[in-house]
Amino acid sequence: MAEIREIITEEDPLLHQEAMEVRRFNSSLHSLLDDMKVTMYKANGVGLAAPQVGISKRVIVVDDGENGFFEMVNPVITQRDGSAIATEYCLSVPDRGGRVQRSTKIKVKAQDRFGNPFQLSASGMLARIFQHEIDHLEGKLFTDVMLEEVRD
Ligand code: CO
Repeated sequence: MAEIREIITEEDPLLHQEAMEVRRFNSSLHSLLDDMKVTMYKANGVGLAAPQVGISKRVIVVDDGENGFFEMVNPVITQRDGSAIATEYCLSVPDRGGRVQRSTKIKVKAQDRFGNPFQLSASGMLARIFQHEIDHLEGKLFTDVMLEEVRD
């Protein structure tokens, strides 16, 4: 059974360090992925990176509400095109928003939970979410790359 994990917030140093590459595609990775999925949905998020649940591993889950659910291990952006600015939020940065410039179209290569490589293309909001989540694996929050803070 998947369990909800606690989402850590910006003051935790783990969110500011580079996450470790996954080398073992074992049951603990599968539990992490399953837990991250339920944790993201429970928090009404569109994406979640493993460091946000206190685990320094290169793992993300994403669901933009239109293109279904994605889980990616060791994701790498291999191609970028275009540029757009939009407001982003983060489950680890409660009550704050910021304007962030992102590529509008990207290609990502990653591995699935069994270590099999795959690639996908994304554009628009989905591409933005992948870039935000992959930034988490580099220890970067939107507050580190935002052009300006947004106050409601
Ligand atoms: Co975030």
